[in-house]
Parts: sequence; C-alpha cells; structure tokens
Amino acid sequence: MASSKGRTGAGIREFLEYYLLGLLNEGTKTKQKMVELILERSSDNNDYRPGGALLVADQEVDSTVSLLLQRSWIKTTEKGDAFEITGEGRKRFEKVDKLKEQTSGSKEEATQKLISLLDPSPPKKYVLDVGTGEGYLAFKLAEAGFKVLGIDSSEFDYSKDSIQEAMGKLKGGNNIAFRVADVKKLTGFQEPFDYVVSSQALHCMKDQEGCMEAITRLLKKGGTFVCSDFSVGLLGFLHHGFHCFLALSKEEWLEMLPQCGYTNVSIHEVHDFCVVEGQKARSGKG
Ligand SMILES: C[S@@+](CC[C@H](N)C(=O)[O-])C[C@H]1O[C@@H](n2cnc3c(N)ncnc32)[C@H](O)[C@@H]1O
Repeated sequence: MASSKGRTGAGIREFLEYYLLGLLNEGTKTKQKMVELILERSSDNNDYRPGGALLVADQEVDSTVSLLLQRSWIKTTEKGDAFEITGEGRKRFEKVDKLKEQTSGSKEEATQKLISLLDPSPPKKYVLDVGTGEGYLAFKLAEAGFKVLGIDSSEFDYSKDSIQEAMGKLKGGNNIAFRVADVKKLTGFQEPFDYVVSSQALHCMKDQEGCMEAITRLLKKGGTFVCSDFSVGLLGFLHHGFHCFLALSKEEWLEMLPQCGYTNVSIHEVHDFCVVEGQKARSGKG
C-alpha cells in the first residue's frame, strides 16, 4: 500500500521524530543518508511483501528535520551539508527509547477490543477469521458464542503447520472449524459471513488490496469487518521494530475502506495495536 513516493502520515512523523535522533546519535548524517538507512534497516520486510521496506516520503523527513532543528535537538554541521545531534537531543532520544522497557505489548487488550465490537446476541452470527494461525482469535470467538471458520494460507515457514495445530486443539462441537485456504481463493460459500475478522495478519498478506477485496466479497451486505494489527507509529516500532510498517496506517485504512465500499469506519488505538472496523454497505454490488 506504500506509494512509490514514500509513506506519509502522523505515525510516520512520530516514528521519524524518534528515529532520526537515534540515527544522528550514531554520528553525523545527511538527510539522504538517513532515508537510505531506514530503507536498508527495514529490508527484511521485503521477505513478507516486495516493496515492504520502509521508504519515507521526503516531505516527512524535511518537516521532521525542521521540527528537530527548531527544538534544538539537532543542528546543522559546520560545512552545512549534514546534521548532528545536540546534548538536548541525546537526552530526548534516551528518554523515548526507555518507553520500550516500561510497557509490554497490548495484543490481548486489542483482541478484547475487537471482540467487544461484535454482537454475540442470537441468532448465532457466523464469523470468518482470516489468517487465523493456530486459532488465537477463533477460539476466543467460539467461546463468546459465535460460529467461526478460521482460515490460514499456511504460506510461511512459521505458519505451515498452524491449521494442523489449531485442529489439534478442537474439542468437538460444530461451532468452530479450520481450513487451509488463502482468503483470495476461498469460494463455495452460499451464506456470506456476518463478520470477517483478522488478528495481526493483514500486515503479512502479500496482496493487501486483493485480500481486502476478497474479504468484502465474503462479507454479508451490512456485515462488519474488524481487524486488529500493529500500529504504524512510534509505539508500533518500539514493540515490533520495522515489521510494524508492513501494517496499514490510520490514514491508509481511512482511504482504503471507503474505496472498498465500507461505511461507519472507526479506528481504535490500543497502545502498539490498531483496531479498525467498517460496515459493508447494505446495497450495491457484492
Ligand atoms: C502473524 S500470523 C497471526 C496468527 C493469529 N491470527 C494471531 O493473532 O496470532 C499471520 C497469519 O496470516 C496468514 N496469512 C497470510 N496471508 C494470508 C492469506 N492471503 N490468506 C489467509 N491467511 C494468510 C499467515 O499464514 C499467518 O499464519
């Protein structure tokens, strides 16, 4: 979802405000060098999705550098072609860096938020959990009274046995089922789902737009999509490293969901996670 001109948005700026200080704490650098280092250090993201490395837009780097200069956290070198950190800047960097140790990740809290957005009252609602892994969310939903199908494409080394593991935890009953399937290829459903949910999975989908189209097709008209994934920003970075930038930012969600035909779009920030909900239009195609 990243534009070829680079990522923009509040989360990117928040991350840059911290990370540029960190880069300059390592030594003097030009703006160009800082952009290149961010791209290089996030290059593992390309293993998940080509183009997944973090390219930040020039305008975001420019505005962050101006802000850091204004606050006297950095200064221009004598030659005037690069930047260096000041004593105040170093103190600021160390203070923010400590946030990593002070808090733990909030996946569980974000999951509780996601579940609270679904209505468990009768008649029993049918939920599709996309990228279910070993059924982390699917089992919680079945316990909360939903009928659940968990699917996973099992395409990564770490996920190749996930569905088998999930099936091994089944205790009978017909409230929950699992299947190896790529959401883009899931067909044969007469009854579309009341809810489609996803936990910490959208970020590692190779074709996020194609997956969102498939999710919309599988959702009943008037049904709700709810997704919990990494927050694109400082807290996301401090807890999940460059991996968090594989997720969609708030701005990207707010642009994409209406384009896919969703209304009532809301975003709930839960520390290092972001829970997004949208309702599929009651009329129209699909
Ligand atoms: C990080 S795991 C998350 C597992 C679980 N939902 C959780 O919260 O712990 C992401 C999962 O998404 C799955 N996945 C990626 N692309 C997919 C696709 N197109 N369709 C279905 N599952 C997919 C991966 O195989 C992986 O198991």
